[in-house]
Amino acid sequence: MSASEHPPLAIGPSILSADFLRFGEALRQSEDAKANYIHFDVMDGHFVPNISIGFPLLDATVRGTSLPVDVHLMIDNPDRWAPEFAAQGAAQVTFHAEATYNAHRVAASIVERGAAAGIAINPATSLAMVQEMLPFISNLLVMTINPGFGGQELIPEMVGKVRRARQLIDALNPACALQVDGGVAPDTIAMLFAAGANSFVAGSSVFNDERDVAANIRALRDAAIGRNSGG
Ligand code: DX5
Ligand code: ZN
Repeated sequence: MSASEHPPLAIGPSILSADFLRFGEALRQSEDAKANYIHFDVMDGHFVPNISIGFPLLDATVRGTSLPVDVHLMIDNPDRWAPEFAAQGAAQVTFHAEATYNAHRVAASIVERGAAAGIAINPATSLAMVQEMLPFISNLLVMTINPGFGGQELIPEMVGKVRRARQLIDALNPACALQVDGGVAPDTIAMLFAAGANSFVAGSSVFNDERDVAANIRALRDAAIGRNSGG
């Protein structure tokens, strides 16, 4: 794909990295900074070695922003829970391929409740595992770290996987977003964008920096397209 054909770039702050004492402010700042969506990380202590946030905070997030809320389920048994997240206001629900035997059924249950369906794969999981699902989903999330914690460094070998994912998406469902999550920062986003990713989740590079959220999002956008943001 040439640069001019590159699908539009979307940036989604991972709200799990925000200061929860200033949660509403983090949502407003993201919106003012023209983030494209809010990424909402759900962890169950089984699928990943951490426990994070769930329905009460999803409700607050949906009420606290007009941006679409993009739920990333890092949980076992998405068959049971994914439709609930769709019903409770998520615009998109992305579940892990490794966590279900019935990805097609889970995706359909999300769409039935009015949300877009996405599938995520861990670094160790082959793209072959999700290839057959591409015609049925709106988002393919290629994890660039092992999920469970923010603030980790991107695994460089994942860039090649993103490139291969782009080829598959272009062949099988060009409308599907190619999302990356983990270690997305000004110094990594350009190679991910060049490899064909077009949707970028960013936690610590948006919220854990001395600059403000707007400046951090601008820096990501500028770095992706190779423009100097001047600060
Ligand atoms: C990791 C989560 C990510 C994470 C991103 O398990 O899925 O969304 O919070 O954080 P950073 O951008 O700091 O890697
Ligand atoms: Zn995530």
